[in-house]
Amino acid sequence: MLIDGHGRIVNYLRVSVTERCNFRCQYCMPEKPFSWVPKENLLSFEELFLFIKVAIDEGVNKIRITGGEPLLRENLDSFVKMIHDYKPDIDLALTTNGYLLPQTAQKLKDAGLKRLNISLDSLKPEIAKQIAQKDVLEQVLKGIDKALEVGLGVKINMVPLKGINDNEILDVMNYCKERGIKIRFIEYMENRHAMDALKGMHGKEILTEVKKRHTIKALGREGASPSFNYKIEDGYEFGLIDPHKHDFCESCNRIRLTAEGNLIPCLYFDEALSIAKAVKDGNIKEATEVLATVLKNKPKENRWSMDDISQEDISARAFYETGG
Ligand code: GTP
Ligand code: 5AD
Ligand code: SF4
Repeated sequence: MLIDGHGRIVNYLRVSVTERCNFRCQYCMPEKPFSWVPKENLLSFEELFLFIKVAIDEGVNKIRITGGEPLLRENLDSFVKMIHDYKPDIDLALTTNGYLLPQTAQKLKDAGLKRLNISLDSLKPEIAKQIAQKDVLEQVLKGIDKALEVGLGVKINMVPLKGINDNEILDVMNYCKERGIKIRFIEYMENRHAMDALKGMHGKEILTEVKKRHTIKALGREGASPSFNYKIEDGYEFGLIDPHKHDFCESCNRIRLTAEGNLIPCLYFDEALSIAKAVKDGNIKEATEVLATVLKNKPKENRWSMDDISQEDISARAFYETGG
């Protein structure tokens, strides 16, 4: 079992397979042109898998593949299959913008993927285009349909932004409700790469919006999940991910691995240690030691909750490197 320096059990590994993305979501990507990490710096699936095996053997039982946009990495289904075949009962999930799902969902399902979390910030083509800085809505909706059709579990993530999609909370929720999908509203997390002018909706404001049409009952947090769940009058459940409150840090069970091999103990802070050399050398002992050090130094909590939060305080690492 993996236990961190604050006594928390860590059983959830998020693995980013690429920082590249085919969207430019305003809350994630810089306005200015930027360059990607060279492809040769990426770890191969075999190298990532070597670390994943170490993590599984040490007690990880939940793995989420992220990006950037993970479906941009070629033959991702073969990577899914490696993990699935090693431990078929693992909670194996993927977070995606959904755009490439029409052509990949079946292969992912066949390879052993269980669940998908898909971003859907608007049901209006023009607003979706404004947020992603690309005309994406039609293809994303097709992707969601395809995922459901092939029998993958689906959750939707929406980041409500003031003056942009804040009037669509009820509509996106209703879209999900009609399809029996859970929606989680995510508070916008300030970061150095997002557009300066963005203002996220606070969790309380999101709930006020939902209450305009529904009565809601608080259910609580689902285990160590960052999502706090609510139920409406007809039993439909939705979630709110509110990092500004950060009480979910108390039970944080996560570490993150980037596509270059940096092992990150907390999204908020810069600190990371590389496992790249260890896996390139096939050195399991060294990989296990790096993992132990990262766990020992995992911070107690993030600082998004602080009133005087400054951009310099937050990690310079972009969300597209870690997949959020
Ligand atoms: P489930 O396994 O389905 O509960 O998924 P998940 O919530 O772990 O994964 P997902 O990739 O959908 O993440 C949803 C949002 O939660 C993203 O915006 C993440 O950045 C955010 N999130 C997840 N873990 C943390 C965390 O440790 N700290 C903060 N601040 N945000 C987190
Ligand atoms: N704040 C909140 N959520 C974010 N995501 C990406 N960037 C941010 C941010 N700055 C979300 C995406 C995706 C999830 C993995 O992270 O919408 O659904
Ligand atoms: Fe791409 Fe996801 Fe960032 Fe949007 S939030 S730009 S889909 S990595």
